[in-house]
Amino acid sequence: MTGLILVAAGSGTRLAAGVPKALVEVSGRSLLQHCLDTVGGVARIREIVVVVPASEVAAVRASLSDASVVVVAGGATRDESVRAGLTQLVDADDVLVHDAARPFVPADVFNRVLDALVDAQAVIPAIPVVDTIKRVRDGVVVDTPARDELVAVQTPQGFRTGILRAAHANEDPDITDDAMRVERAGIPVRVVAGSQRGFKITTPFDLAVAATMIEDR
Ligand code: CTP
Ligand code: MG
Repeated sequence: MTGLILVAAGSGTRLAAGVPKALVEVSGRSLLQHCLDTVGGVARIREIVVVVPASEVAAVRASLSDASVVVVAGGATRDESVRAGLTQLVDADDVLVHDAARPFVPADVFNRVLDALVDAQAVIPAIPVVDTIKRVRDGVVVDTPARDELVAVQTPQGFRTGILRAAHANEDPDITDDAMRVERAGIPVRVVAGSQRGFKITTPFDLAVAATMIEDR
């Protein structure tokens, strides 16, 4: 049985002031609703936990028609919000962790991650990096990693629930995604193809791109 933790508790500092990013609307629906629309088409997902800012729990719960979706308050970091979601999962042997800030990830990416999770313990979707990436310190280039070995990582990221729980048991402040925790526990993380539609909405420019994308969907 597969569960989903949808992390939507960030404030979105580079977007609308006062409105949590996941509740910002594109084409009349919030980013969170767009995510749930897609997830509704992925049959294997049976248990859904949505993690939102504490101040929004009641309003989000009231806005959802599916009574089985659990809505819970998140924490100060994404990592803490994932842990808040993990405490609510009941039956899931496998879990997907997905950013509400990536509302247009197609259902086939969810299915690719789930297919690979059948014989892997951890799976992430990623796309090739098209720009040359440099490591820079104090305005000076330190290093240029080989581009053919670099990918940009997206969500949903899939894990055996027990592995994700164990990986979250220790303190590790510089974590930016769940796979990093699992990697540090020495567990291989499989990579599958993501989608350009899986980009993360961070700035007003991204919102404008999203609106255009919906129009030609
Ligand atoms: N997230 C969360 N709890 C937090 C921080 C982030 O659930 N304390 C979620 C966001 O809602 C988002 C995902 O993690 O769906 C990725 O985070 P990010 O894009 O960084 O969102 P924000 O932190 O809200 O945005 P920003 O960093 O631009 O302020
Ligand atoms: Mg953030």
